[in-house]
Amino acid sequence: KLKGALFDLDGVLVDTASYHYLAWKELANELNIPFTKVDNERLKGVSRMASLDILLSLDKENRLYTSEQKEAMATRKNDLYVQLIRHMDASEILPGVVSLLKMLREQGVKIALGSASKNAPKIMASTGLSAFFDAVIDGNVAANAKPDPEVFLKGAAAIGISPDECAVFEDAEAGLQAAKSAGCFAIGVGESVNLPSADVVYSDLTLFDLSVYF
Ligand code: BG6
Ligand code: MG
Repeated sequence: KLKGALFDLDGVLVDTASYHYLAWKELANELNIPFTKVDNERLKGVSRMASLDILLSLDKENRLYTSEQKEAMATRKNDLYVQLIRHMDASEILPGVVSLLKMLREQGVKIALGSASKNAPKIMASTGLSAFFDAVIDGNVAANAKPDPEVFLKGAAAIGISPDECAVFEDAEAGLQAAKSAGCFAIGVGESVNLPSADVVYSDLTLFDLSVYF
């Protein structure tokens, strides 16, 4: 039986993908780069600067930018994103999440966040999710983005459970690869076709049966 649960944030606990999309879309419009919701799928789970590089790779004119210009673009995107998430509350927690977190706590399972986002503390606080977590590992403390296993290795260490006794809940293939490299059991949330590295996939967390794993 597993003893620890490590959660991704965006797309697993809260549906922030649409806010990330709107912020990237606005930046893309300002730069005159075509950017669609399908393109946005490639940014899921990917760090802010790596996401920017993907967006700039869609530029028909192949313009090159200095690292200062790219920093300014990433800051612009984040300012737009922070505006969009500033009114987030518990109503934006995804279905099945709160009851799962409550049941895990009742069973004494330790819970940590493993997110690439530097905005994780804001979202955890405004939605009330912080209350369920024993540790938070996010983009402010991790140097290496998923598929590097760093956030999950640090998450397991922070809750004092060996990675092979932890489950990771992830909606992105890069995150599932990170989970497997960390030696965790990888639970995909979404569609199996998009999540080949998952050990098991649930279309949403209302369908998750805790007693099978914990
Ligand atoms: C991940 C999201 O959780 O965090 C990505 O899936 C996002 O879309 C990444 O780019 C970094 O987030 P932030 O908030 O630090 O820009
Ligand atoms: Mg995610």
